[in-house]
Amino acid sequence: MYINENFIKLPQSYLFSTVASKLKEYRESNPSADLIRMDIGDVTLPIAPCVIEAMHKAIDDMSSSETFHGYGPEQGYPFLREAIAKVDYQERGIEISADDIFISDGAKSDLGNLGNIYSKKSVIGVADPGYPVYIDSSVMDGRGGELLSDGRWSRILYMECKPENGFKPAVPSRGVDVIFLCSPCNPTGTVFTRDELKEWVEYAQRNRSLIIFDSAYEAFVTDPDIPRSIYEIEGAKEVAIEIRSFSKTAGFTGLRCGYTVVPSELKGTDREGNEFQLRQLWNRRQSTKFNGASYVVQRGAEALYTSEGQEAIKKNIGIYLSNARYIRKAMEKAGFEVFGGENSPYVWVKWPGETDSWKLFERILSEAEVSSTPGIGFGECGAGFIRLTGFNSPENTRKAMERISRIKFNEEEGLGEDFKSLNDIKAIRALDDLDVLDDLTHALGI
Ligand code: MLT
Repeated sequence: MYINENFIKLPQSYLFSTVASKLKEYRESNPSADLIRMDIGDVTLPIAPCVIEAMHKAIDDMSSSETFHGYGPEQGYPFLREAIAKVDYQERGIEISADDIFISDGAKSDLGNLGNIYSKKSVIGVADPGYPVYIDSSVMDGRGGELLSDGRWSRILYMECKPENGFKPAVPSRGVDVIFLCSPCNPTGTVFTRDELKEWVEYAQRNRSLIIFDSAYEAFVTDPDIPRSIYEIEGAKEVAIEIRSFSKTAGFTGLRCGYTVVPSELKGTDREGNEFQLRQLWNRRQSTKFNGASYVVQRGAEALYTSEGQEAIKKNIGIYLSNARYIRKAMEKAGFEVFGGENSPYVWVKWPGETDSWKLFERILSEAEVSSTPGIGFGECGAGFIRLTGFNSPENTRKAMERISRIKFNEEEGLGEDFKSLNDIKAIRALDDLDVLDDLTHALGI
């Protein structure tokens, strides 16, 4: 038996597994550490009561032969597909039908699995920095080519994102078969405007490309001028698949549920130029390799589409967003260059003078006892940046910002241990007028 050698070409460990093992090591050597997690985008607020109630009821359904549910439809239960089509799309003026929606066990799985339905020869385009699943799963499927000395893959097109372009990928000058786009972006927190997304749709139409639009963070968009779905752009149904998740929206990181939209209008061709509906191919793939998300979890997700569920989402997102705004303001006050943190739970921070993101990670961990995600883990253009998340509690968020600002103040002023208390005062003062949390909480009416 020969292995899939693409796996041995990959770096040893997935980004968040590496972070987790470094944190485990740190905890073992510092058992009394008061560590504040701001690395992986994992939620901290509990599941909404209406979802819990719906899941309890669904468990009761399993206890009687009249209401018991065995294998469900591989595409997901109609009750959930219909609720999604109605609330997330039709009520927002987008014509997506329940048949276009496929329930998943989260965005990450489908981002990787979609590679089953396009050619192994497809050239992939990704933003650098970007969510590592796009590249790693493409490499596993043999679409990476060779790993080059600069850490990039020979067959992948990297769309460089830097402070100069506001960390937004520009439309490439050449055609690419499959493009991964993420807005609000993980990791930089930046968002596409309607005009920018329109340019991407037109690019895909011109080049017959497929856009895989990762919209896992759409619920964080509060600005009405920023599109939450790519299908808000005319013509997008012919060129794009959209992927969404209940993980960050509704605290489902542990429950696992999301969905993928493959509109009936979206087609690809074989080598002879015959057209095929991608929805049909995806349906075939799912029916063969997936038995659906669990009935109990889908009933829980359905409850999110009640008015109580929608209110609960708004409330939790409001808290995470206010944390992110707080991080952004605090880091700006401390003199860092900052991106994201608005319409997004992620804040992307440049540490002046330090280009080694892992060193930065270690330093912030040991000096502030705050965990971050090193920017380099998202691509070469992430060197010298760290990603912070707004998913911790407001109290921990404030504490973490104070501690990170303190490192910065000490570093800039060259003050030693004796001056720690002076620095404390300065750092805290710098944060004093940050009333964004209260402002935003008030604005959202929570
Ligand atoms: C992240 O921190 O980037 C995400 O939580 C990872 C994920 O969703 O898999």
